[in-house]
Parts: sequence; structure tokens; C-alpha cells
Amino acid sequence: MRALFCIFSGTGNTKRAGEKLAEELRALGHETDLVMIRADVPMPAVEAYDLLVLGYPVHAFNAPRAVLSFLKKLPKTNKMPAYLMRTSGEPSKINNAAGITPRRMLERRGYEVKGEFVYVMPYNIMFRHSDGMAARMLRAMETRVASDARTIAEGEGKRMRVNALRRSVAFLLRVERPAMPLIGKTFHASKKKCAGCGACVSLCPRGNIRMKDGKPKFGGHCVGCMACAFGCPEDAVRISLLNLWRVNGQYSFDGDPARDDEVGKYCRKMYLRYFHESEEGEAEKK
Ligand SMILES: Cc1cc2nc3c(=O)[nH]c(=O)nc-3n(C[C@H](O)[C@H](O)[C@H](O)COP(=O)(O)O)c2cc1C
Ligand code: SF4
Ligand code: SF4
Repeated sequence: MRALFCIFSGTGNTKRAGEKLAEELRALGHETDLVMIRADVPMPAVEAYDLLVLGYPVHAFNAPRAVLSFLKKLPKTNKMPAYLMRTSGEPSKINNAAGITPRRMLERRGYEVKGEFVYVMPYNIMFRHSDGMAARMLRAMETRVASDARTIAEGEGKRMRVNALRRSVAFLLRVERPAMPLIGKTFHASKKKCAGCGACVSLCPRGNIRMKDGKPKFGGHCVGCMACAFGCPEDAVRISLLNLWRVNGQYSFDGDPARDDEVGKYCRKMYLRYFHESEEGEAEKK
């Protein structure tokens, strides 16, 4: 089998999970190619593959607009099997709503969506997890990915259900999609901190940033992926209304995974349940 991975990732979490899933599929004897969903990357030749894996982060309980724009242009097929793969900052069930629109769009284009996978990875907005939490999330993701690769190889999988209340809340938060280009237009670089290195220009998957007089200027195509604010080496990007939620700088995934008593108060029960489920999977593998 030849699998094509199409991945949208602002700050690297979904890319990391997609690469790991592809690696596990290769270990099972399948071929994989991974293509990033970016404005400067052309649409891949989907017809050369037997299977599609679409990966993206959850944004406001939904799929980012960049993913929907990609799906609108995706070539039609006749029942090519497809899987959705998401990362999110918390293991909340409401995030399952992020599968609804991509699933419908894929089906309209002739794909057969066989299953969905979710991995909790550190937040890139709102608040910063400890590096210990990041390390535990990475370990959980790697365990889950190994069994998810087997599910794909066997052609199995399941779709995620969302109850009516969660679906309605997620529906309301779709306002993020039209709001982000407007908010993003007012992003700017701190005059004091910006070194004019241009890193944000190449990090932006939407081609939304250009340099003018040695400083970045933000256009009207922002999808709020946070690649610029998170990746700026000087922590110089100011994200307008969202600035109090800014998270800057790569997580270190190399430390000791957080113990249960180090898991913070926010969504504590949900994180512990997610970690314990993943660790049961790890124990089964041994
Ligand atoms: C604008 C925005 C909205 C987000 N909304 C959610 C959310 O609703 N639920 C959640 O669990 N995580 C949310 N997150 C966190 C990301 O889904 C998470 O950090 C993800 O792993 C980032 O993936 P990436 O590094 O591939 O971009 C949001 C992040 C951003 C930037
Ligand atoms: S990455 Fe940061 S320092 Fe470099 S140009 Fe962009 S805002 Fe300025
Ligand atoms: S401007 Fe920043 S947040 Fe907006 S799409 Fe580009 S990198 Fe992402």
C-alpha cells in the first residue's frame, strides 16, 4: 500500500505525530509520502496513492480554515480510503467536532473516511504546559500511533461521535475562521525586540508575512496557526487581541514525563484518563 500524508501544522505538533504515524506504517511494510499543507507547496498527485491521511491541529474545536481550503482543491477519487489525524492541546471530547466538516468534504470528493485518531500535544496558545507534560504527551502519542498504524494497515478504524450540545458549541466557535484573518492583520512585531531576521516569513504556512523596511508586515490570510509567534527567536511577535494567550518557544520533549502529581489543575481528570489509557496500551505492547 502507498499512503499519502497531507499535514497542516503551525508549530510542529501535528507534523511530529504525522511523521511518527508514517514511520510506523513503513515499519509494517507500506510506502508513505508526507506533504505539508502550505501556500508554497503544490497539491500532490493523490491518484498515485491507495490511501490518504489528513492531519491537522484542532482550532477552536474545529478544523483550521487552511485545511478546508486544501480540501476544496483536493482531487476527486472513487472511494479512496482516508483517515483523519488530529492533535489538540487537551483531551476534551468537544474537540471531536473538528472531524465533522473535513469528513463531509472528503466524502463529497469521493473518499471513504474509515477512521479518526487524536493525539494530545502541548498547547501553542492560551497557556504553556510544563516540559514534563510535553514529554508525557509525546510518549502517549508514540504509543497510540503504533496501534493506530496497525488499524490503518488492517483497513479498520472508527469515526468519532459528537453529541448535540458539543456540536452546537463547536458550531458557534466556527466564528474563529472568519475572525482570524481580521485579527491576524493587526499582528505586529515589537519594534524593540524584532531583529529583522525574517524567520517568521518562512515559518508562516499561508505566505501571509512579508518583510518591509526590515520588519515583518502581516496580511489578511492568517489562520491563527501561531507559527510566527511561537517560532520567533526574539519573542517579538505580538498577536493583537490574543496577546495574553501568546506562547513562545519550542517545548523540550526530552525531559522526564510528568508524574500524576505534576499534572496541573486545568482539565486534570481528562489528562490523567488520557495518559492512563495510553500507558495501558504501552503495557500491552511489552
Ligand atoms: C487558534 C488556536 C485554537 C486552538 N483551539 C484548540 C481547541 O479548541 N482545543 C484544543 O484542545 N486545542 C486547541 N488549540 C491547541 C492546538 O490544537 C494544539 O496545540 C496543537 O497540537 C497544535 O498543533 P500544531 O503544532 O501542529 O500546529 C488551539 C490552538 C490554536 C493556535
Ligand atoms: S522572526 Fe521575530 S525577530 Fe525575526 S523578523 Fe520575525 S518578528 Fe522579527
Ligand atoms: S501570520 Fe502567523 S498565525 Fe497567521 S497564518 Fe501566518 S504564521 Fe500562522
